[in-house]
Amino acid sequence: MKKKLVSLVLVAACVFSMAACGSGQNSDGDTQDTTKSSEAEETDQEDAEDASEEGSGEGGTLIMATNAEFPPYEYHDGGEIVGIDAEIAQAIAEELGMTLEIEDMAFDSIITAVSSGKADMGLAGMTVDPDRQKNVNFSDTYATAAQVIIVKESSETAGPDDLVGKKIGVQLGTTGDIYAEDIEDAEIERYNKGMEAVQALQQDKIDAVVIDGEPAKVFVAENEGLKVLDEPLTEEEYAIAIAKDNDDLLEKVNSALAALKDSGKLDEIVAKYISADE
Ligand code: ARG
Repeated sequence: MKKKLVSLVLVAACVFSMAACGSGQNSDGDTQDTTKSSEAEETDQEDAEDASEEGSGEGGTLIMATNAEFPPYEYHDGGEIVGIDAEIAQAIAEELGMTLEIEDMAFDSIITAVSSGKADMGLAGMTVDPDRQKNVNFSDTYATAAQVIIVKESSETAGPDDLVGKKIGVQLGTTGDIYAEDIEDAEIERYNKGMEAVQALQQDKIDAVVIDGEPAKVFVAENEGLKVLDEPLTEEEYAIAIAKDNDDLLEKVNSALAALKDSGKLDEIVAKYISADE
């Protein structure tokens, strides 16, 4: 029932935009709308139906902004961007009958891309945060996460309290960056990619990295001599960023997310990238 309504709204939107487009191109101008015969209206409707069949998604393109430097949520694999967020976005696009397009950018550009309409939604292991909520809306949450601390295996730093006065690496513009700022006397080194912070730690340029728990596991597995401390710095939740004026998409994304949760598809995607016994 809900789905039917969504596609009806979509068709209505298409008819509308086609009509607007038609009148713009029509040189007899002003009187066109009032003199339109029912036959012409029928043609418009057919055009709208044709347009809606373009590509594989009847509803057009859904553009996802991300920063694909964040395994297992989004990362490059060969020429492709894969990961939990990429698959969730693909599943949402399918629910909405749209074609997904992924735009990779700096993490701190995602909110602007979404709020300016350059992208439809931001999926980037993005934590719901009150400052971000001034510029975008967030969907219902789809994952819980934590900021954790990575140190050298030999380090005596045992938990968050030991970070006082330390040199801490973070990914620019992330919640790790925001929370590290609150640590007393800490010196913050900001990197464009989380992986760069981890490499700086390996080279003893910094004392610790504050980053999300799942990427931390991946980076520590890929770089020798490092460990993730047991005690996390914060608990947080991931959601999808959507432009403030796009309530229509927010609603659709939330119902698609709910459907993915109900069907078990969301768990299936997560299980593909994160093993339960970790
Ligand atoms: N959860 C953190 C935040 O929202 C880090 C996200 C980084 N994501 C990425 N794709 N690089 O700030």
